[in-house]
Amino acid sequence: MPETAKIILDGTEYELPVMTGSEGEKAIDISKLRDLTGHITLDIGYKNTGATTSGITFLDGELGILRHRGYSIEDLAEKASYLEVAYLLLNGTLPTKAQYTDFEDKIKEHTLVNEGLEGMFKAFPTGSHPMGQLISMTSALSLFYPKSLNPHRDDEAVNRTVLRLLAKMPTICAMIYKKRHGHPIVYPKNSLDYVSNYLNMTFGQVTMDNYTPDPVIVDAMNKLLILHADHEQNCSASTVRMVGSSQANLYSSTAAGIAALWGPLHGGANQEVLEMLELIRQDGGNVAKWVAKAKDKNDNFRLMGFGHRVYKNFDPRARIIKKTCDDVLNKLGIHDPVLEIAKQLEEAALTDPYFIERKLYPNVDFYSGIIYRAIGFPTDFFTVLFAMGRLPGWISQWQEMRKEKQPIARPRQIYVGEPPRPFVFMNDRG
Ligand code: ACO
Repeated sequence: MPETAKIILDGTEYELPVMTGSEGEKAIDISKLRDLTGHITLDIGYKNTGATTSGITFLDGELGILRHRGYSIEDLAEKASYLEVAYLLLNGTLPTKAQYTDFEDKIKEHTLVNEGLEGMFKAFPTGSHPMGQLISMTSALSLFYPKSLNPHRDDEAVNRTVLRLLAKMPTICAMIYKKRHGHPIVYPKNSLDYVSNYLNMTFGQVTMDNYTPDPVIVDAMNKLLILHADHEQNCSASTVRMVGSSQANLYSSTAAGIAALWGPLHGGANQEVLEMLELIRQDGGNVAKWVAKAKDKNDNFRLMGFGHRVYKNFDPRARIIKKTCDDVLNKLGIHDPVLEIAKQLEEAALTDPYFIERKLYPNVDFYSGIIYRAIGFPTDFFTVLFAMGRLPGWISQWQEMRKEKQPIARPRQIYVGEPPRPFVFMNDRG
């Protein structure tokens, strides 16, 4: 007997199907609720609404579990390369050696970007935010590949778009960095692996052939990209799916995801964390004062990098990244004063009843910024690195939605505005 949920409205009982996911999660299927009862459900911010079924990522916020296609994030971060994880997310299985080589080779075919794209930098004001630039550049890719505009035209064109996006994203991110510094662009070097190539395009120089990224940094970057690769139906992934549901092309859908990621409550938090730590340091390092401010409901200040919509125990990515952070700083011999503030803040927040009661723990963004800073990235570049990591996740979410031919996303609302009223001509409005 399939499980059902009963709902009584105006004395009439309705039965609704209950769905169970492969990890035992339960959902009441309300898709027919309005037809049956005339009612919709109201859930502002989708705090309790499943927008899709998905076979990509499993997350249990209470137990602190994160798995991609069944593999734990701990295993992937420790044992896989970023491109292996990208392949896994996109295809559902880990690649064989031959599949991996083929995937990597195909990506390498597309690492250059059209020279015309460089012209866009002339239009960006000096010092403009790298995320604004990344949104524009990603969106502009659609203009260079008009055949990609219809995502339902042919699978071949879509597959090429997927490879192009994965291949060009590091090149574009590195171009943004170089242009910011007024340095000439370093072209991709296809003899290097994905992460080393990105680091070379960013920190290498056209006048130097022998830049070799420190293996500690390559390893840390690889882990950071993996930890950011997907996170099921978060704000940016839902945005990508929502925009894609109107059958917008993948470049535009991805650009929309990057825009959603930019916000300080989402990916933009990694920049905010570092700015907050700097602020506390410059203010004299009185951590207790800032914890008190975060708890004060009359003060808008929040501890950036703390709390998460779904993790209410711990963020498994934060555990992995904390260790990477210690490793990187130790191996590079960096003594960063903001790290001391970060440690004190973490300790104070984790022992304070306000944070314990609300289950507010450090999230992935709390530590990632410290590593990015140690590697040498400017603060406002941190969210770009998050976007680069999240790309295979967005694409996988978009592909799943497209292949399942999901309908256009269109939430409903409860109108709470004015009742009908007659129009009054301007001269009679008093
Ligand atoms: N500092 C102080 N108080 C906080 C914080 C914080 N960082 N986060 C939540 N709270 C408090 C809220 O004031 C609220 O208190 P109340 O119940 O007394 O009103 C309670 O904890 C619940 O918070 P909500 O905002 O309702 O939780 P929600 O799930 O909507 O928000 C969010 C989650 C946006 C991540 C929030 O915790 C936050 O703003 N954190 C700081 C920003 C941040 O680090 N974002 C990155 C998230 S991870 C990512 O996107 C990759």
